[in-house]
Amino acid sequence: MLHKDYVLSVIHEYKFEQKKNIPIRGKNHQVIAYLSSVKKTREHAEILTEWRNKHMYSFFTWFHATVDGTLKWIESIMDREDRILFLIQNLEGKPIGHIGLTNFDFEKNTCEIDSVLRGVEEELPGVMTYALESLIDWVFNRLKIDSVYLRVFEDNHKAISLYKRCGFILWKRVGARKIVERDFIRWVEVEGGSNIFLNYEKYIVYFIKERSQIR
Ligand SMILES: CC(C)(COP(=O)(O)OP(=O)(O)OC[C@H]1O[C@@H](n2cnc3c(N)ncnc32)[C@H](O)[C@@H]1OP(=O)(O)O)[C@@H](O)C(=O)NCCC(=O)NCCS
Repeated sequence: MLHKDYVLSVIHEYKFEQKKNIPIRGKNHQVIAYLSSVKKTREHAEILTEWRNKHMYSFFTWFHATVDGTLKWIESIMDREDRILFLIQNLEGKPIGHIGLTNFDFEKNTCEIDSVLRGVEEELPGVMTYALESLIDWVFNRLKIDSVYLRVFEDNHKAISLYKRCGFILWKRVGARKIVERDFIRWVEVEGGSNIFLNYEKYIVYFIKERSQIR
């Protein structure tokens, strides 16, 4: 089987098979939570909508999320074979946050980690660190992907300290341009890299982690 077909079949399995999940291991390697694919249900859409609105400004598109809009977003993720969004659930099944995989490049053998969000504060301290570490471990060892990257606003210190704690290394910094539409604001990366003589209102930084780092 081609590597691409292998990766897509594993993602399909974790997306659609009930009870397929990735254990999140904490200190001493014990399981403290699980990553399981988000489902296209009203219950999940309501939780995600509340979290998205609470943390609107951390992401690159700013808009007021609605449950119907979130349902469509979940549907678009379910329909895209190279994308998956995992809910982070505690051992009782309560959703705490989410984290996703997207933009697989099968030639470079990379993918992007996106939608990193803690929805419930003060529950399972450190769970976002352990979730990211467990997910990377799975991506490297199960999917056999060589490197993963993340994009984040340069002023998002909480997220950046999480990524550094998990061993990510700063890769590049790109200026972002603000595009104002009727119902939303979008931050788009300036094409061709940033002109160092220009000042942008915001910058997006890329962090990368390679499988060879931990071999
Ligand atoms: C970015 C975000 C996911 C980080 O969540 P978090 O709660 O800081 O992450 P963790 O669960 O790993 O907790 C780490 C914090 O708990 C502390 N902690 C306590 N026990 C810990 C443990 N056993 N292991 C690791 N950290 C622990 C850490 O010191 C750290 O606090 P600090 O940042 O003040 O040093 C969260 O702030 C968030 O959802 N932000 C809004 C959305 C967002 O910005 N997403 C990123 C977009 S690119």
